[in-house]
Amino acid sequence: MSERTFRVWRGAADGELTEYRVEVNEGEVVLDVLHRLQATQAPDMAVRWNCKAGKCGSCSVEINGRPRLSCMTRMSVFDEDEVITVTPMRTFPVVRDLVCDVSYNYDKAREIPSFTPDPKTEPGDFRMRQVDVERSQEFRKCIECFLCNNVCHVIRDHEENKEHFSGPRFLMRVAELEMHPEDTADRRKIAQEEFGMGYCNITKCCTEVCPEGIRITDNALIPLKERVVDRKYDPLVWLGSKIGTR
Ligand code: SF4
Ligand code: F3S
Ligand code: FES
Repeated sequence: MSERTFRVWRGAADGELTEYRVEVNEGEVVLDVLHRLQATQAPDMAVRWNCKAGKCGSCSVEINGRPRLSCMTRMSVFDEDEVITVTPMRTFPVVRDLVCDVSYNYDKAREIPSFTPDPKTEPGDFRMRQVDVERSQEFRKCIECFLCNNVCHVIRDHEENKEHFSGPRFLMRVAELEMHPEDTADRRKIAQEEFGMGYCNITKCCTEVCPEGIRITDNALIPLKERVVDRKYDPLVWLGSKIGTR
């Protein structure tokens, strides 16, 4: 057992960091220490969590400036004398303390047209290649912690871009459906025009913070960009769209 210094954001957007000295035991994660703070010194501190197993995506915060799951961040990754600063995710409005309003993400999720299978395919007739199964499975590991959307510079300090950009989490969903062999909708135009694909300049910060290790940029965003470009520069598609607009 040792005593460590924690600085925790208290209050809403106009709040401030409050310093605490708190007991830490071997093998604990940051969420354990936040719970101890609640139990012993700050009973009104708002902390969102649920599974404490890295699977519900609720406990996203920033720890010493890095977006992380507090339930999966071991205290042993910090130096013995390091002050631990815990703040709410910066991209979303703070409700109170470490809890923010992540409804932007759910609004973006609702805007994506759902899976559109070919109506001519009879139940049980469709066969998927293993490579297509594996691609979807990687994207389906997402726990919706929104750390990727939180870290992306396009919206992190640019509230004005939120209307036009759905963030890596939902561009990944568009990519998943676009690359699904049984989905009949052409999602390339909306990826560009409604979900803001063009805003992404492949900085890969989203991939770096993903606790599920999903290769968001390489496996979803870049392939989606390539498809959008193919559509734009395919002479037949171009001719078709010109004739269609006359
Ligand atoms: Fe979290 Fe990764 Fe899903 Fe983004 S893609 S919401 S970082 S699990
Ligand atoms: Fe943002 Fe990820 Fe693209 S961090 S800029 S969505 S590669
Ligand atoms: Fe569920 Fe951390 S509490 S992911």
